[in-house]
Amino acid sequence: MKKILVTGGLGFIGSHTVVELLNANFDVVIIDDLSNSKIEVLDSIQEITGKKPDFFNIDLRVKEKVNHFFSENHIDGIIHFAAFKAVGESVQKPLDYYENNIGSLVYLLQEMRDRKLDNFIFSSSCTVYGQADELPITENAPIKPAESPYGNTKQIGEEIIKDTCKANGLNAIALRYFNPIGAHDTAKIGELPLGVPQNLIPYVTQTAAGIREQLSIFGDDYDTPDGTAIRDYIHVVDLAKAHIAALQRLIEKKNDTNFEFFNVGTGKGSSVLEIVKAFENTTQQNLNYKIVGRREGDVTAAYADTTIANEQLGWKTEKTLEEALLSAWKWQEKQ
Ligand code: WQD
Repeated sequence: MKKILVTGGLGFIGSHTVVELLNANFDVVIIDDLSNSKIEVLDSIQEITGKKPDFFNIDLRVKEKVNHFFSENHIDGIIHFAAFKAVGESVQKPLDYYENNIGSLVYLLQEMRDRKLDNFIFSSSCTVYGQADELPITENAPIKPAESPYGNTKQIGEEIIKDTCKANGLNAIALRYFNPIGAHDTAKIGELPLGVPQNLIPYVTQTAAGIREQLSIFGDDYDTPDGTAIRDYIHVVDLAKAHIAALQRLIEKKNDTNFEFFNVGTGKGSSVLEIVKAFENTTQQNLNYKIVGRREGDVTAAYADTTIANEQLGWKTEKTLEEALLSAWKWQEKQ
């Protein structure tokens, strides 16, 4: 069995990807520093799959610890999720974001270089496109200047990987996520936002659960049909499966070049108001919301052209928006 390292494997997308890796009969080892996840997620993964991956609580900013891990573990591939990911926080603490998101990436790539390891999957983001000039967004869309240090770490991260692949023959794929939402059908794993949720769906479910008083919709004066901003909301299980498809592409050496990147979304845009209405209809919950001013840094609309990912990865989304919203609600009810 191929042994895959999943960094950030106890996080939201990481844990769902670990489940799919185990289901696909990979051997999995997780590194997570628990800064944005809980150790209980490991037990939930075992409950879902019947398998308990090896787990190491390692801070990837410490080069010696990263080096020691690789001297003790032979790895056939890496899926790298571990990173700070709060856009607003990154504006307040840029150096924390550059140290963690870039530093840990460099240390992992140095180990791969020195030990001739291969097959690297990088968690990137549609944030790299900023407000794209054309919709839906294809992989040829230009990379725009980052609107936040967080987005910049994704852009810089891709550049570092591209240069490393060129210099050292590493094979890597960056997956540019659109908006991951929802939870596993078992409701045993899902999104665990720390503190006040920054993202829309956890705020919606916490409002419906009475944890939050009211959802604030950030602006209804955008140039969209109902005035609220449009995003491409993808079920986290569909997103997790895209990682398996990308990893298998590298392991089977089907990649065309040694650094590839793919947009991973549903290809469908939904506005904030459409999400609210779909949530209410799907869950029969009434949502208390109000319209407020725009949030700094938000783009009007972003949704993926999924042609390349569908064709090259042999992957496409299977779950509907309603299934994603319902799974998010079922998960919230269990908290
Ligand atoms: C979605 C829409 C908000 C909250 C960010 C990052 C991206 C990735 C996903 C990490 C927007 C509106 C939100 C609220 C609202 N992050 N909204 N009220 O900003 O598209 O993407 O999260 O990997 O890199 O950029 O996601 O969920 O924050 O916002 O009206 O309380 O919901 O204005 O239009 P976003 P989001």
